Amino acid sequence: MTAEIRAATEHLVLRRMTNDDDDALAAYRSDPAQARYQSWETPYTLDCARVLFAQMRNVRFGQPGVWLQTGIETGGRLIGDIAVRVEGDQARQATVGFTLAVDAQGRGFATEALGAVMSLLFTEHEVHRISAACDTRNDRSVALLERIGMRREAHHHKSAWWKGEWTNEYVYAILAEEWADKKPRSRPTTAEHILGSLGRLLQRTTGAGP
Ligand SMILES: CC(C)(COP(=O)(O)OP(=O)(O)OC[C@H]1O[C@@H](n2cnc3c(N)ncnc32)[C@H](O)[C@@H]1OP(=O)(O)O)[C@@H](O)C(=O)NCCC(=O)NCCS
Repeated sequence: MTAEIRAATEHLVLRRMTNDDDDALAAYRSDPAQARYQSWETPYTLDCARVLFAQMRNVRFGQPGVWLQTGIETGGRLIGDIAVRVEGDQARQATVGFTLAVDAQGRGFATEALGAVMSLLFTEHEVHRISAACDTRNDRSVALLERIGMRREAHHHKSAWWKGEWTNEYVYAILAEEWADKKPRSRPTTAEHILGSLGRLLQRTTGAGP
């Protein structure tokens, strides 16, 4: 089991966040659009960032019962994080969450980072099932969860009290054997991505396919 996460993917480094990341974290968490479906309020101050880092200082990647936000870095800059919580009472199940700075979106970085974290959980931490919940209006999250290969397993109606309203939630999940069967990589190559998008567009416009 890897206690300390430090992993490199094609374009990214996944690593523990430190106090040096306070301005980057505070900046992307302070964007109201980023916070809309998340637990924090804006503005997200430098103090909030440091409190979060202090809470996570002794938390190991994969440690049951606690959330750990793993930083996503590219070009020496923190651009987002992947949150992981391995369940305390069922240590082989994990929940994930994710945030990417707006100016880093649209390039497949969240797919790449989430894929790498999920691979670590399944292979090194022998997790059996990974799930994620999101507001049904959170289109980019829905797209990410489907792109990564997770299955929509539930649509809960007015199940979560969130920022002053009852909200509807989707729950997505994938099992270890399904992940292994799909053999997903952390990120399709750009050529594969373009071909995949064209294929899906063709299917939608011609009605071709299953
Ligand atoms: C959810 C979130 C992380 C998704 O970010 P994202 O940038 O859409 O996801 P990715 O980084 O994987 O990028 C995918 C986009 O890059 C494009 N892309 C380009 N090259 C790509 C590649 N090689 N592989 C995959 N996608 C690629 C995709 O087409 C897609 O663009 P599109 O949305 O225009 O179709 C982001 O929207 C976010 O931080 N939201 C706010 C926080 C939040 O709500 N979190 C979830 C709480 S449940």
